[in-house]
Amino acid sequence: MANAKQILIPYSPRQPQREIHDALENFRFSVVIMHRRGGKSMAGINHMIKYAFTHTMPNIRMAYVAPTFRQAKSIAWDYIKQFTKEIPGIKYNETELRCDFPNGARITLYGIDANPDALRGNYYDLVVMDEVQLIDEEVFPKVILPALSDRKGKCLFIGTPLSTRNYLYDLYKKANADPAWYCKVFKASETGIIDEFELNQLRKNMTEEEYRQEFECDFSASISGTIYGKIIDKLDAQGNITNISYDPGYPVHTAWDIGYSDSTSIIFFQEIGRQIYFIDSLVQSGEGLPYFIKDIKNREYVYGEHFAPHDIEQHDFSNGMTRREVAYQLGIRFKVAPKLSVEEGIHMTSMLLSRSYFDQKQCEIVIDALRHYHRKWNVNNKLFSKPVHDWSSHICDSLRVAAVSLTEGTKGKQAPQLKAENNYQVFGAN
Ligand SMILES: Nc1ncnc2c1ncn2[C@@H]1O[C@H](COP(=O)(O)OP(=O)(O)OP(=O)(O)O)[C@@H](O)[C@H]1O
Ligand SMILES: [Mg+2]
Repeated sequence: MANAKQILIPYSPRQPQREIHDALENFRFSVVIMHRRGGKSMAGINHMIKYAFTHTMPNIRMAYVAPTFRQAKSIAWDYIKQFTKEIPGIKYNETELRCDFPNGARITLYGIDANPDALRGNYYDLVVMDEVQLIDEEVFPKVILPALSDRKGKCLFIGTPLSTRNYLYDLYKKANADPAWYCKVFKASETGIIDEFELNQLRKNMTEEEYRQEFECDFSASISGTIYGKIIDKLDAQGNITNISYDPGYPVHTAWDIGYSDSTSIIFFQEIGRQIYFIDSLVQSGEGLPYFIKDIKNREYVYGEHFAPHDIEQHDFSNGMTRREVAYQLGIRFKVAPKLSVEEGIHMTSMLLSRSYFDQKQCEIVIDALRHYHRKWNVNNKLFSKPVHDWSSHICDSLRVAAVSLTEGTKGKQAPQLKAENNYQVFGAN
């Protein structure tokens, strides 16, 4: 075209931003966890601007969604105006925070606090959800996903970790487990965007936990008193939380924590060389030993040892039998884990975890529990208490049973037999 005017958008993406743009070309759903000031908001906004001209559909609709209307305005509105102001015919609606491109494309900014339903009734080709850790878990499935379905729209989720009780963490797990989703964590120590001097300054002015959360993107960092959080974050970063399949060439061992009035937790693992592969888990309450034994027997595994805590020797069945005896009758011969203090057990579990791998799907609840298991801060004596007894402690206790049973020198003791097992016949062979 003879009189076409070339408009230069004043944005030159950094390497992590290039990766985000590539992901948005190739994936429908992308989860980007990035340290503070890494450039994630800017990447999301510039992708929308590019999409306005490059996407082949007519009347492109895009939405930028932030936790609050105020945030949407303060984070995105200036960026949008800064990068689009040279485009002839561009229009801005300051009240609605809407930007209309001359070719009919449109970007609208939303704050979930103002009116989450404002997004309803529209279709979207691209949605950028920013600061997802602060957005309610219902917004995407109930409001945004239906609006994306008309034209198979894409969604970019961006955020920085904030413990494990929010939608960003759920999405992170989902995206990690699903190859159809893009998932990437950008840590400040790896991107090099913020220089070493600046990072040191930040480190001096924040607690270690704050720094790990905001700049190293550790999900467990903000769980006060977390016991295994640091180890799990490290395993996660090393890629030890991944898709692991059962290797039929090795036996599967189980370790149990048997709930009397609350839940029972069973973890399934394989020991291959020095590595421990946690491949499955079963956590449930309100069921007795026969239920769990039936369940594990129905699984495809060839079993090795079944490890149980020492309280399995308690007589608490109405017929006077111990749980170990009942299990034996049902075909499971438990090995009783050595009786060690909780603190020794925690130490051994930490050692075991450092050489462990987890299947992220089958062991999701185990990983969540390992992150959550924590001590309470005792204000009076200024010490962390013993571990808090909650949903996570049963699961962590079953891991502790595995750890103390597997640790050299404390191998689980074989439970005494009810009957001698041999072929010797007192009166000679028939
Ligand atoms: N490609 C780039 N070139 C130059 N400066 C950039 C680039 N990308 C981002 N910046 C600058 O880096 C800073 C942080 O960018 P942005 O707001 O996108 O980061 P963020 O990861 O969303 O941060 P936060 O976690 O604080 O929301 C801004 O000052 C922005 O102008
Ligand atoms: Mg941002």
